[in-house]
Amino acid sequence: MQTSINQYVIQAEPYYRPVADEIELFEAAYGLRMPMILKGPTGCGKTRFMEYMAWRLSRPLVTLACNEDMTASDLVGRYLLDAEGTVWQDGPLTVAARHGAICYLDEVVEARQDTTVIIHPLTDDRRLLPLDKRGELVHAHQDFQLVVSYNPGYQSVTKDLKQSTKQRFGSIDFHYPDVEIETDIVAHESGVAREIAAKLVGVAQKSRALRGRGLEEGISTRMLIHAGALIERGIAPRRACQLAMTKPITDDEAMLHALDGFIEAYFGP
Ligand SMILES: Nc1ncnc2c1ncn2[C@@H]1O[C@H](COP(=O)(O)OP(=O)(O)O)[C@@H](O)[C@H]1O
Ligand SMILES: [Mg+2]
Repeated sequence: MQTSINQYVIQAEPYYRPVADEIELFEAAYGLRMPMILKGPTGCGKTRFMEYMAWRLSRPLVTLACNEDMTASDLVGRYLLDAEGTVWQDGPLTVAARHGAICYLDEVVEARQDTTVIIHPLTDDRRLLPLDKRGELVHAHQDFQLVVSYNPGYQSVTKDLKQSTKQRFGSIDFHYPDVEIETDIVAHESGVAREIAAKLVGVAQKSRALRGRGLEEGISTRMLIHAGALIERGIAPRRACQLAMTKPITDDEAMLHALDGFIEAYFGP
C-alpha cells in the first residue's frame, strides 16, 4: 500500500483574509523550518490559515485531528496484513516527514503525553523520526515542517503540553478578526448579504464579552457562517441564530435568554 503525496497538495488558493501579521510571521518561521503552535479559540481560522499557507508555500499539507485514543502508531505507522503478508504503512507524520510536507496536528493537547513525545526528535536540530517497530530512522525531508494547533481556553493542568514540548515551538496567536474583516468572511463563506453578516457579527461580539462570565467560549466565526448559510436557505434569522449559534454553546436557560436578547436587538422579534 503506497501513500501518494499528491493527494495532500492543495490545488486552488484557499480564501483567507489576513487578520494581523500572521502570514509574514509564518513565512519567516517556515524559512527556518521552525516547529509552530497556532494558538487561539476554536473556529477562528487556524485550519483555514494553515491550508492557505501550505498553498502559498507550495507544500503538501498532511492534517491529523488528535484525540486521546490516538497512539504513536496512528502518527508514525504500523504493519498491516494484506494478501502478500504484513506490509508497513507509513502514518501521516511519517508521510509528511519523508516527502517534505507540512504536518498539521490539530488540537494536539487532546493526544496523550506519551503519544506527543514521539514528535520530540523531529522538533530539534536532528529532525529525526524513529520508527521503532520497523527499526528505521527517518531523516526529515528539508521541506518538512511540524505545526500544531492549541486552544488555550480549554486547557486543564492534566491536559496541557509538557513544558519540554512547548519549548521546541514558536507560536502565533489567533483571535477572531475585527468587525469589518469578520463581516467580509461571513458574507463570503455563507453567501449572505453583507448587511446580514454584520448583524451576525454583532451578536457574536456580544457573546464573546460573556466569555468566562457564564460562557466557556463565545460564538465563533464558523458558527456565524453556519447561521448565514441557513438564512440563505430561507430560515428566519432568529431561528437560524438559535440553531447555529446559541443552542450549541450553552444549555443554561438564563444564558440562552440573554443571547436571544442580543439576536432580537439585531434582527427584531
Ligand atoms: N481569516 C479568515 N479568512 C477566511 N476564512 C476564515 C477566516 N477565519 C475563519 N474563517 C472561516 O471560518 C471557518 C472556521 O475556521 P477554521 O479555520 O476551521 O477554525 P479553527 O481551525 O481555528 O477552529 C473556516 O472554514 C472559514 O470559512
Ligand atoms: Mg481547526
